[in-house]
Amino acid sequence: MQGLIEQHTGPLVSARQVTEGFNSEISVVINDSTFVKGLRTDHPRAWTQERERQINPYVRHVTAPLRWSRTEDGWDLNGFDFLDGRAASYKPSSPDLQPIAAMMIQWPTAPDGVELKQASQRWSAYSDRPELFDGAWLSHTDWSPGNVLITGDRAYMLDWAWPTRGARWIDPACWVVWLIAEGHHPAHAEARAARVQAFAAAPDLAVTAFARAQAAMWEDIAENAPHPALDSAATTWVGHRTA
Ligand SMILES: Nc1ncnc2c1ncn2[C@@H]1O[C@H](COP(=O)(O)OP(=O)(O)OP(=O)(O)O)[C@@H](O)[C@H]1O
Ligand SMILES: [Mg+2]
Repeated sequence: MQGLIEQHTGPLVSARQVTEGFNSEISVVINDSTFVKGLRTDHPRAWTQERERQINPYVRHVTAPLRWSRTEDGWDLNGFDFLDGRAASYKPSSPDLQPIAAMMIQWPTAPDGVELKQASQRWSAYSDRPELFDGAWLSHTDWSPGNVLITGDRAYMLDWAWPTRGARWIDPACWVVWLIAEGHHPAHAEARAARVQAFAAAPDLAVTAFARAQAAMWEDIAENAPHPALDSAATTWVGHRTA
């Protein structure tokens, strides 16, 4: 493994395990310049490595560029540029919220060459109107603040393991749930998301259906949720929209 990595990074001087992030079997910073993310090829989510490789060319302006990949000796490794930053804060007073919204408006349309799930498929089990979520845009969908890296006054979106084709407002809407979980009043969370014009212009009916789907999903997977307050945050959001 070390030999494999060194073929790309040069001789190993330092290796620092990243503790944030719990899905990958390997997540390590090599020589302060390369972030290596790896899964065994027989891991049930090994396909997410390939998905990240496919999507990276389309999002290099808002994420860490992928420099190399290797699938060998039972390992699937992706080597990205190391970005020297910190995880975003979603607290109401956070200075990170503005650059995050500015980043989101740079999302491209969903690339034709990459097989992506439709938003209506992703959330069909949690909505009776999932067709309202569809559209032509690329969505990231996993707004855990650990996936948003802040360097200086810029935000970068990491971990494109669950890219989805959907309406342009899907990502700001996913973000709203996290903002509420981190202490925003639902009206303030929506105002933040509305800095992304597509969310401001989204049909009320569709966003309310999406809020309901998020509440149902986070309740369903509460035991494995990445944040304990997501299901109640989504329920609070639904209450706000339907009051
Ligand atoms: N290019 C990078 N530069 C610097 N740090 C990075 C980079 N990519 C990822 N990280 C850090 O490593 C962590 C884990 O990366 P990532 O989220 O891609 O993997 P993961 O194992 O799928 O994580 P999780 O399962 O928690 O979502 C990130 O939260 C971030 O702190
Ligand atoms: Mg992650």
